[in-house]
Amino acid sequence: MVVVATASARGVPPKRRHVITSTSGSRFFSWKLLILLCVSLSCLVVLASLFSLHSSYLSNADSSNHFKVTRSTVSRTFHGPPKIAFLFLVRQNIPLDFLWHVFFKNGNVAKFSIYVHSAPGFVLDESTTRSSFFYGTQISNVIQVSWGESSMIQAERLLLAAALDDPANQRFVLLSDSCVPLYNFSYVYNYVMVSQRSFVDSFLDVKDGRYNPKMSPKIPREKWRKGSQLNF
Ligand SMILES: *[C@@H]1O[C@H](CO)[C@@H](O)[C@H](O)[C@H]1NC(C)=O
Repeated sequence: MVVVATASARGVPPKRRHVITSTSGSRFFSWKLLILLCVSLSCLVVLASLFSLHSSYLSNADSSNHFKVTRSTVSRTFHGPPKIAFLFLVRQNIPLDFLWHVFFKNGNVAKFSIYVHSAPGFVLDESTTRSSFFYGTQISNVIQVSWGESSMIQAERLLLAAALDDPANQRFVLLSDSCVPLYNFSYVYNYVMVSQRSFVDSFLDVKDGRYNPKMSPKIPREKWRKGSQLNF
């Protein structure tokens, strides 16, 4: 899935970043500082179009242990507006849930869905999140994720698999626990829905010392890029 997202983003300028924001008045001013801080934490927002994801998902289905279900038999018709699926891959809770709460509150519940992959055993409820939008959003099939390891990719795939069960989900946004919305819901919805492209956060980090020569020649040094959640 990760490779797919990269491939479908070909043609997108490498430095292009998509960050989402919520602005609804001056009381958000202090939040803006927080937002800037969070953005500097290199938040990744991957906006993936259904068509590329879904078709490659089907073609890759056989090679994955987690996608044994024959999706082609599932009806892809749905009623109501198309939805954006917000896929949160987090350590435990959603640290910036109060910002997301405002974002979703000003949105249209018929136009989005939320899926959360959190640590096995962790439950999002009144005691662990300030936003009721996150109640009952955790996917049931979760794994122990180690940051920087391929279990992260596995977890993203589990999130996508859960979201693909609802044919109304037409766009998929991969989010980490340091991601924040920088635009309001309607702006994001319209922007993402009209786009036929996937967006991948990928940039050249000149200070990056993470390239391992053992990855050559499959991944040559000049092709190595940094992304916030995943390195390509
Ligand atoms: C959302 O943001 C856009 C662009 O910033 C603005 O034009 C629009 O009025 C906002 N919509 C709502 C519902 O706040």
